[in-house]
Amino acid sequence: MTHLPFAELHLHIEGTLEPELVMELARRNGVALPYDDVGELRAAYDFTDLQSFLDLYYANMAVLRTRQDFADMTAAYLARAATAGVRHAEIMFDPQAHLVRGVPLEVAVEGIASVLATSEDDHGVSTLLIAAFLRDRPEAEALDVLDGLLGMGAPIAGVGLDSAEIGHPPAKFARLFARARAAGLHLVAHAGEEGPAAYVTEALDVLGVERIDHGIRALDDDALVSRLVAEQVPLTVCPLSNVALRAVGTLAEHPVVAMLERGLNVSVHSDDPAYFGGYLDDNLDALTTAVGLTRAHRVRLAENSLRASFLPAGRRDALL
Ligand code: ADE
Ligand code: ZN
Repeated sequence: MTHLPFAELHLHIEGTLEPELVMELARRNGVALPYDDVGELRAAYDFTDLQSFLDLYYANMAVLRTRQDFADMTAAYLARAATAGVRHAEIMFDPQAHLVRGVPLEVAVEGIASVLATSEDDHGVSTLLIAAFLRDRPEAEALDVLDGLLGMGAPIAGVGLDSAEIGHPPAKFARLFARARAAGLHLVAHAGEEGPAAYVTEALDVLGVERIDHGIRALDDDALVSRLVAEQVPLTVCPLSNVALRAVGTLAEHPVVAMLERGLNVSVHSDDPAYFGGYLDDNLDALTTAVGLTRAHRVRLAENSLRASFLPAGRRDALL
């Protein structure tokens, strides 16, 4: 099947680590895991909320030790993304999650970036890299890591904010985002995934983000929805993720089509595809069955994704 050209804007590269690759890297690096085989690992992918997922997501990162490990993970993602119709990807990584395990910034950055550098030639997928900061850790640590990334000339296009949301409001990172903005970086943040609609407002007004990752809890606040429609704030929604983490009961109840029809600037993405049951195409196919996503909806989602990207106008317009 031919695919419409999409931009993947909400993807954590560590969330593309498929169970088979987890086991292979564990063997390669002599890392002991509490699973004997892929089946046992897969059986652990039964989440009750965001934190239950994050616990496994961070634990599995133990297998990422060398530049080659990061490169192999990134290459596997790009090959799969190309088959899903992704022509541009803005890829988040979690530098602090590696630093706290003793993996230097350079190892993660150079491993990922070495593969992104040739992604357009190798897979027909242009790419940008976004450093995501862990909101359940102190802002002072994030500031040091941002300085480290800027100091080493890491090829990052932007910063994001992720990890456990409730109790960690965006305003906690006001200085981090001000510093990133001063450095000329793009700004995005997870908000309104599990946390309240007020976090969406705060991410816009205090951090000055250009896109909201998730944002589904904004639907609890009609005045905020009106604002998001008026300002056409991009919301990068991840349906299979929302169901896997029980932010939404079932895919049939997922509000993404209703959001589109209310005039919100929504696009669909895969978040952590190895953990939540699929990549961009899997999300679209599942929505087709569950909520009657039409070809016209797909066209709008594809266009929204490209317009919400940080692509230079030339390539963006060529893909539109
Ligand atoms: N890190 C990786 N996936 C995430 C998600 N869905 N929410 C918050 N932080 C994350
Ligand atoms: Zn995410």
